[in-house]
Amino acid sequence: MLSYKKLKFGAIMFDVKTYIRRREILKKKIKSGIIILPGNEEIPMNYPANTYRFRQDSSFLYYFGLDVPNLIGMIDADSGEEIIFGNDFELDDIIWMGPQPTVKSLAAKSGVKKTFTLSKTKDFVSAAILAGRKVHFLPQYHSRNQMTLADLTGIMPKCINEHKSVELIKAVIEQRLIKSSEEVKEIEYALGISMQMHMYAMLMTSPGLFEREVAGGVDGITYAMGMGNSFPTIFSVHGETLHNHHYDNLMKSGDLVVNDSGAESFNHYASDITRTFPVNGKFTQKQKEIYSIVLDAQLKAIQKMKPGINFKDVHMTAAKVIASGLKDIGLMKGNIDDAVRQGAHALFFSHGLGHNLGLDVHDLEGLGEDYIGYDEKIHRSNQFGLAYLRYSKELKPGIVITVEPGIYFIPQLIDLWKSENKFKEFINYNKLESYRTFGGVRIEDDVLITRTGSRVLGNPIPKEIDEVEYVCNEELREQYTT
Ligand code: GLY
Ligand code: MN
Repeated sequence: MLSYKKLKFGAIMFDVKTYIRRREILKKKIKSGIIILPGNEEIPMNYPANTYRFRQDSSFLYYFGLDVPNLIGMIDADSGEEIIFGNDFELDDIIWMGPQPTVKSLAAKSGVKKTFTLSKTKDFVSAAILAGRKVHFLPQYHSRNQMTLADLTGIMPKCINEHKSVELIKAVIEQRLIKSSEEVKEIEYALGISMQMHMYAMLMTSPGLFEREVAGGVDGITYAMGMGNSFPTIFSVHGETLHNHHYDNLMKSGDLVVNDSGAESFNHYASDITRTFPVNGKFTQKQKEIYSIVLDAQLKAIQKMKPGINFKDVHMTAAKVIASGLKDIGLMKGNIDDAVRQGAHALFFSHGLGHNLGLDVHDLEGLGEDYIGYDEKIHRSNQFGLAYLRYSKELKPGIVITVEPGIYFIPQLIDLWKSENKFKEFINYNKLESYRTFGGVRIEDDVLITRTGSRVLGNPIPKEIDEVEYVCNEELREQYTT
């Protein structure tokens, strides 16, 4: 486990050689033209000087490591020249913000020798365009950077993403998808934070509290130990809503709570863990049955993971375990292979099994999910449920991917399918009535593909029923809180 306790702010970057090597590899892949990688700017929340917490663009972080707003990186794939464009702070800024490093000293930390002010960026891009050279950039998810690129290239802002470089997208994905051991250590540091977040949530939850009273503490841990949340925490007794970002419910005895949350390490690598536990510390028999199916699906899926296996097959394994478990308790019926092939299980498990994890919690998703998870051989299914699978391709050593099956009872979806008699040969709608208010169960871990198999990253966070009940135990809570 990494410890950052001894590091001072500013010392937290990989060795300069890491960034130099990453850019050398990119240059070899791209071969010609210029590559522009805009960093992010600070974005106002409610007036210009009151900004959202700054988050650097992940590709900029990957190639330059500089966690500072208003920088643009440029790499000339032909000459090998590398430049950081940025403006030095002036005394006025320093009065408000304290002493700031120069752009030159920042660039040196990522091994870039040349720097210019931001206003010079256009001269370089215009010269490249005039010379008929290719200008490579990634698709932009933020309007600010769409505007910046529009200004540099003369393309209309709303058309910027139509001019993205597919060659650059593919090269960046190829590089960022496979994690080095120093990147895996970062993810493991973030998982150390996750451990604290989940233990805190299990210990602190009790009937009579509002979700926010625990969720706020969970978020606080991410700021105390790292760089904040890797995505907005999902902490809800309505676990059937997959991305529930409200914390307004009063937690009652008998409820299950889904805690899907993650943190960022100091270099912004993410963790993403989900645990589901009973608010009063004891699963009911009905909850145990559903929970055990999800856990079984997760464990069997992980067992199957190794290089050469398509993640789609791992997803299908989990889907079959879920469908056959639901058949055992009478919620599904008929031939399970047929039911899963046709997608009947998606009434209960309506999302993909997982997603890549790295500098983004849904790693690289901003570059286009189909470029990451699909290719000429493996196309995205249009079947409900399976269509949400973010990564379908072959697993390779160095890939880190989440494994997060779930079972959800979504009243609106149940009503719709029932009214259409959809898959009535596979779904026992009568029995389902008594599950309408059940909520949902999801269990998620982050898995590294190794040369011979796979490894669940981080120290184990309780997920067996007896372990979860042990941690959620009221006496244990009192011991820690009084
Ligand atoms: N942790 C939220 C998600 O994976 O979508
Ligand atoms: Mn996830």
